[in-house]
Amino acid sequence: MGDIITIKNPLDMHLHLREGEILEAVFPYTYERFIGGVVMPNLSIPISNTQLALDYQHTLKTLNPSFLPLIALYLTDTLTQAELHKAHHHGLKILKLYPKGATTNSQNGVSEILNPHTLELLEEAQKLEMILSIHAESNGYSLDREYEFLPIIEELASSFPKLKIIIEHLSDHRSIEVLEKHANLFATLTLHHITLSLDDMLGGGLKPHLFCKPILKTPKDRDTLLSLALQAHPKISFGSDSAPHLESKKLSPSGSAGIFSAPMLLEQLCELFEKHNALENLQAFVSDNAIKNYNLDIKSEKTITLQKKSQSIPLEISLQQDRIIPLNAGMSCNWKII
Ligand code: DOR
Ligand code: ZN
Repeated sequence: MGDIITIKNPLDMHLHLREGEILEAVFPYTYERFIGGVVMPNLSIPISNTQLALDYQHTLKTLNPSFLPLIALYLTDTLTQAELHKAHHHGLKILKLYPKGATTNSQNGVSEILNPHTLELLEEAQKLEMILSIHAESNGYSLDREYEFLPIIEELASSFPKLKIIIEHLSDHRSIEVLEKHANLFATLTLHHITLSLDDMLGGGLKPHLFCKPILKTPKDRDTLLSLALQAHPKISFGSDSAPHLESKKLSPSGSAGIFSAPMLLEQLCELFEKHNALENLQAFVSDNAIKNYNLDIKSEKTITLQKKSQSIPLEISLQQDRIIPLNAGMSCNWKII
């Protein structure tokens, strides 16, 4: 393929853009690389109704009119069928399910997933052809949380066979069998779960900036998931889960979970796919699979061209007398957007 690669309509199907100053500081890294993506609703006031989603969409559009923000609606215990219909009517197509307390700003998440209220909403979401995106973790032992959640995924997948369900940020190789078993199950993969294992976070000095949920797992998990990405497995789309936190929060006793990977994501994916002789599958992994699996109707076409040329990943993004440290800060990346 030579030293130049062109990617058509790159999409990031899972990202946290936050709000206020952090939003303004981090959003350009995404809109300079991706034409759109799934924006997560776990803001300080969760995006739990249509109006909040439309307001957030408006804020994002004001900052960058060409980025297509697919805002996920936060599924709470108080979401009503009427509100779900309203959301659908206004073009929201993704519902995000956080088990209560599983991660950052998930205190409004669903307390009991298989309860009648949630199931009725999911029945309706299925009728409306919405997509259910799940933070699939139990509250058990960190390394087994995704595995322990699989029975719930299976129950939902078989109860709602026409509802497309996305296992977000797949991190455990034991989930793959379940993903393959149900036609309506799909997944996203992050850059960090396919390149890092738990030892990168705590095998040497402790690296709080690599603490995320789901937690990084074993080399076997990492390598198995990497091979799925490199083949551009048709049920899997790229979703960075880029999750910026101020360093003061990362280092505080409550230790916020989240890896800020947005800077140079596409460049790093190019480097990774090239290293494994899989550059020809990058287009499917960062765009085509998502367009198919989320039934996206992309109106205008945009291409991003990258050239093999070395550059450094920023050391930090400074703001509010504080800073946000990116994934692989200061390391060199040998692809550059031109
Ligand atoms: O590491 C994570 N950070 N995992 C999540 O699920 C949420 C995210 C965040 O919002 O910071
Ligand atoms: Zn996330």
